[in-house]
Amino acid sequence: MKLAVIYDSKTGNTRQAAEWIAEGMMGVDGVEARTFQIGEVDEDFVKASKGVVIGSPSYSASMTPAMRMWLFESAKALGFAGKLGGAFATVQFTHGGGELVIQSILTIMLASGMLCYSGGSSSGMPVIHIGPVGVNGNKEAHNSLEYYKDYFEIFGRRFADKAAEIFE
Ligand SMILES: Cc1cc2nc3c(=O)[nH]c(=O)nc-3n(C[C@H](O)[C@H](O)[C@H](O)COP(=O)(O)O)c2cc1C
Repeated sequence: MKLAVIYDSKTGNTRQAAEWIAEGMMGVDGVEARTFQIGEVDEDFVKASKGVVIGSPSYSASMTPAMRMWLFESAKALGFAGKLGGAFATVQFTHGGGELVIQSILTIMLASGMLCYSGGSSSGMPVIHIGPVGVNGNKEAHNSLEYYKDYFEIFGRRFADKAAEIFE
């Protein structure tokens, strides 16, 4: 089963988070997970994917303009309807809007006919209610994206488990 993780990233944090999610997905038997920066997406792979996870940095507590434009242009062309969807974000402030970014991505996914999944509180600890957010160490000395690695990997594994349950 193919799963795609698609992100926008200028300075590498969101790309790193995407790679951790894909590593978590690959821990599930039979899953082939690949990551793509928008603009470099293998469209055939995404069309064949049963699930798509999308991530963006927080820009003014919103997804990046490039990601919003990409989603509007791609959701129909890449056949998002009926696929499992999930979302994630990276931020430089703990209260920098990461969950708003996730929610706005999930809203577009729902409007496109995707089935959205986070695991919520159904999978035990760690609870990831709407999607994982990683805080980098740019501005908060006590923070580092590395501290959030487990959350991204666990989210990826849970997402892949659910996709396998639904589609296989
Ligand atoms: C134009 C711009 C706006 C940003 N706005 C926010 C923000 O509102 N909240 C926040 O926490 N970080 C903000 N950031 C920081 C990025 O979200 C953060 O560093 C992110 O991890 C960058 O991801 P990347 O390394 O994948 O590009 C902003 C960065 C830029 C360039």
